[in-house]
Amino acid sequence: MAVLGIDSYTLEIPDLAEGVRFYSDAGLESRVEGNIARLLCVGKARDSVVLLGGFSRKRLHHIALRADELDKIASSVAVAGGRLVSAPDGFGADGLWVADPHGMLIHLVEHKPDVEPTPPPAFEINAPGRIVRVRRSAMLPGHAYGPVKPVKLGHVLVFTPDVAASVEFMTHALGMGLADRAQDVIAFCCARRNSDHHVVAFAKSPAVGFHHGSFQVDDPDAVGRGGSALLQKTGKGSWGFGRHTIGSNFFHYIQDPWGSWFEYYSDIDFIDDYTQWTPTNYGMEDSLANWGPQLPADFVHNYEAAG
Ligand SMILES: [Fe+2]
Repeated sequence: MAVLGIDSYTLEIPDLAEGVRFYSDAGLESRVEGNIARLLCVGKARDSVVLLGGFSRKRLHHIALRADELDKIASSVAVAGGRLVSAPDGFGADGLWVADPHGMLIHLVEHKPDVEPTPPPAFEINAPGRIVRVRRSAMLPGHAYGPVKPVKLGHVLVFTPDVAASVEFMTHALGMGLADRAQDVIAFCCARRNSDHHVVAFAKSPAVGFHHGSFQVDDPDAVGRGGSALLQKTGKGSWGFGRHTIGSNFFHYIQDPWGSWFEYYSDIDFIDDYTQWTPTNYGMEDSLANWGPQLPADFVHNYEAAG
């Protein structure tokens, strides 16, 4: 085994208060100490997002992945084009710190899996020839619903100058699986056991950068409700409600204060055993969505790249 899931991502940002406000509006809890903010999903003891304030611009600092057999990973990193590095200033030396072939920093941490959340009520859909809900409404009046609270960080999508090389590193050094891809432009990596369809995904760009973090909510209604509510607060970019082809998840993306994105998702494909999964190379027409509204002009712009 190797990578088992994702813990968090850490961003350098200019204004910590602005970042805390955004993620709090998105439904995460915040703990601020000095110029560091930790954002947690509801009921979680572990950070999902760490914000480092006081920088001139937003930049991906690192991603943190849960893994085991760190000694095996350590011995494979250099062969696969990466390198072992020491812990950056201000971060603990626990686990393993590695840089991928493009310099993206990854912190591999060994710990027990989080406790599984209590399942929400089933999302029931009356369909032609299949009635599952009778004599009651699916929906309550709008005011009866509280704010949407994500239950976990599911995946990140990062930019890379070479998608194939990044995937090669994740699969050969970190023991992940390639779930699916679209040509050499976007690719999705999963853990090899009991994994969401993707945990770390890559999109082509001249430089490394953070594109989005994706957070699971209870059902498609919560995707729509959470996305609409966050958009009302931010007034910035939005893409959704829609459904991806690759991974099958319903999505709504809201632009963060730095031009990257926050995704609410529901109903992503699940890979219990990677040896039983066959990756597909999709055409570009399926790379972004199966259906959804028109894409914002800067949806795949890497604001961390020069120019
Ligand atoms: Fe996503």
